[in-house]
Amino acid sequence: MSDLAKKLFIKTYGCQMNVYDSARMADVLAPLGYAPAKDAADADMVILNTCHIREKASEKVFGELGRLRLQQDRHRGAGRDMIIAVAGCVAQAEGAEIMARAPYVDIVLGPQTYHRLPEMVARAARAHGAKDGRRAGAHLLDTEFPVESKFDHLPELQAGQGISAFLSVQEGCDKFCTFCVVPYTRGAEFSRPAADIAAEARRLVSAGAREVTLLGQNVNAYHGASPRTVGGTPAMEWGLGRLIHYLAEIDGLERIRYTTSHPRDMDDDLIDAHGEVAKLMPYLHLPVQSGSDRILAAMNRHHDSAAYLRAIEKLRARRPDLALSSDFIVGFPGESEDDFAATLHLVEDVGYAQAYSFKYSARPGTPAATMPHQVLEEAKAERLERLQLLLRRQQESFNAATVGRTVPVLFEREGRHAGQLVGRSPYLQAVHATAPGLMGEIAEVVIEAVHPNSLAGRLAEAAARPRPTMAPREAALPA
Ligand code: SAH
Ligand code: SF4
Ligand code: F3S
Repeated sequence: MSDLAKKLFIKTYGCQMNVYDSARMADVLAPLGYAPAKDAADADMVILNTCHIREKASEKVFGELGRLRLQQDRHRGAGRDMIIAVAGCVAQAEGAEIMARAPYVDIVLGPQTYHRLPEMVARAARAHGAKDGRRAGAHLLDTEFPVESKFDHLPELQAGQGISAFLSVQEGCDKFCTFCVVPYTRGAEFSRPAADIAAEARRLVSAGAREVTLLGQNVNAYHGASPRTVGGTPAMEWGLGRLIHYLAEIDGLERIRYTTSHPRDMDDDLIDAHGEVAKLMPYLHLPVQSGSDRILAAMNRHHDSAAYLRAIEKLRARRPDLALSSDFIVGFPGESEDDFAATLHLVEDVGYAQAYSFKYSARPGTPAATMPHQVLEEAKAERLERLQLLLRRQQESFNAATVGRTVPVLFEREGRHAGQLVGRSPYLQAVHATAPGLMGEIAEVVIEAVHPNSLAGRLAEAAARPRPTMAPREAALPA
């Protein structure tokens, strides 16, 4: 196999930020000749992009590495090489342990050093080529938080990500919730300049995107430099609300979403944007974690349940049809039945369209891991079941309420049946409909039925014909 036809397989765990990062790692390795492989058996290099958020997520990595080692053996038996790399948050948190427990791993790199990947791969390949009989990996570890930003050193986005794309605008977290590893694995908060984000959004749109989801561990803590004007006025700092207004001016970009936001950073500018920017979709993931003020304080969330409900009230005043989603943790240390009941109350008050809920998982090195009154596993399991039952009922009634309504759907992938396409409603519901020729288009769909994970509908009369192409899809931003 020539040097120019190598195959790369990236397995991604965890949050959307990791999905975005995996795409960027593929970008940075493309110039070295790496094309996508369909699986590890087909790959000359495998990257595990890992998640450290809960114990279960972390455990998966060593299991997967064991399987990769067997694959590496099979490759070598067939005279082929395979480089193994571990990236992401487990790499950042447990880099040295990975090297010790899995010495066949060649590269361990943290989320802030992806721009250095080509050099590490070249060194790993040289180490493998040394043919000195050693079976050990190349032992390259880079989990620094470098002073330079990876965003300034990554190549421009190479490939499109399809019709709905992720765009990282902010990374890291300074909040230090007492249960969470993210401030340790992703480092301090950092925001990309608005001009870089807009340039990337335009590239995504030229490559076919109609929707972008702005990503950040605390996306609404965004505080990036504004673009310089033609006159060269010095840049000011923009918040997320201002950034969304700016991106909404890009022609061809039809829908904007953002995730994940923190209730504390829900400022008036951003709340107003929900009423002012038509392209900003009426769906918001705003994690609250708990409805108990005592637990929220112990979590170091810096807001109480009343402040959360106030923010939602203001948001709904601007955008009455706003659909809400949240994350919940049950069984945080010290959580009593009353605390848990307060969470159920809050859920009843808000009415969620969708939500994620987890049992508290003690993460080594975080303050909550050593707090007294850790909750018994059985109590956690029982509370999780009750909470999930309530959340599921809310989700079902939210979805049922769309039956009979006509909603604009952005079609983004093929469905299972001929002519069928799957898209998203403004409220992030998956919708399938027979919609020939409408891939990448937004069409009005009458919702006819609710399935467990999606809605089914038919095109409204006027939408049944593909729209004539209007202007070339060229994204232009006003100066
Ligand atoms: N930045 C986001 C959350 C990122 S982590 C925010 O502030 O909300 C995603 C979710 O994982 C969190 O919202 C939380 O619900 C969950 N999570 C994080 N650490 C956890 C832990 N130790 N145990 C259980 N769930 C956890
Ligand atoms: Fe973790 Fe809290 Fe930061 Fe979210 S805000 S990433 S939960 S520390
Ligand atoms: Fe997991 Fe890291 Fe994301 S811990 S949730 S991959 S920021």
